[in-house]
Amino acid sequence: MNSQQIINTAKMLVSNDKGLLAMDESNPTCNKRFTKLGIPQTEEARRSYRELIVTAPGLGEFISGAILYDETIRQFKKDGTMFVKVITDAGIIPGIKVDTGAKDLAGHPGEKITEGLDGLRDRLKEYYQMGARFAKWRAVIAVGDCIPSQSCIEANAHALARYASLCQEAGLVPIVEPEVLMDGGHTLEQCSEITEKVLRTVFNQLYTQRVILEGIILKPNMVLPGLTCSKQATVDEVADATVKCLLRAVPASVPGIAFLSGGQTPELASVRLNAMNVKFRSRLPWEMAFSFARAIQQPALEIWQGEESNVLEAQKALYHRAMCNRSARRGEYNSLIERNKT
Ligand code: G3H
Repeated sequence: MNSQQIINTAKMLVSNDKGLLAMDESNPTCNKRFTKLGIPQTEEARRSYRELIVTAPGLGEFISGAILYDETIRQFKKDGTMFVKVITDAGIIPGIKVDTGAKDLAGHPGEKITEGLDGLRDRLKEYYQMGARFAKWRAVIAVGDCIPSQSCIEANAHALARYASLCQEAGLVPIVEPEVLMDGGHTLEQCSEITEKVLRTVFNQLYTQRVILEGIILKPNMVLPGLTCSKQATVDEVADATVKCLLRAVPASVPGIAFLSGGQTPELASVRLNAMNVKFRSRLPWEMAFSFARAIQQPALEIWQGEESNVLEAQKALYHRAMCNRSARRGEYNSLIERNKT
């Protein structure tokens, strides 16, 4: 393992006010999003959509790394150029989702455990050879009556730490993603308490598995009330609760926190990230960035609709959302920037 190389890559992923673009939807997830818009669920449709993304002009101004899926990292542009080369040429670091999905946790109705550790060492070696320099593993923590259980939190934290250690051994920066889901009627305070507990458990496990904290990126949820909670929170309340929770649980040696969007609308995700950076940026030990999938891609996907004639407009929408989130990282995002779509 070359620790310095991993540490440098982690720093690069969160430097210059850039963030990550998650374009690593599994085939079933991608197909689900296509179905809603009447786009064919074929390998060629997924390839065309990913080509639209990786060739969007100027994306590298705002995006430091792109997370790919196993199918995507092996795909090519129509002209035969590998996507990995297109991304690298645009100044974007290629990354790869390496978990194999969240499955039911035995004995724990309503809870999930993320799988993918078997054979991971060999898969990481192959991805490194293909050009990937970072990886992603997502654990999902559902909130409800009597859940999450301690056993669910511990099992997922342990898997995240085993994955992270294997990544660093292979020269890849692990993106560590423990996501407390937004579904449910829980309050902001409950989300905060659970997120803190999850993060503390994850960092204990990372320590136990000898993961170098300077060489990871944390990808957490923002602290939010559940979608059906009767008391929704203001932007400032979300910013305060999120930063307070992270300060309690995330060591200062971690170079960056790159939030997932988790189903927030694209604008709300930008507004909330912006508020955190406006209020706290100068006082925090880590960079506060983004690693959004839906909150960057959704408008572009809706414009594209599977039609070649919509590619340019869709690419503009993608560029715009990436630019809005770079502004949010700087604490400079506002409604004028949001509306200026040219
Ligand atoms: O693992 C989930 C993605 O990387 C982030 O997706 O921003 O749509 O929640 P999202």
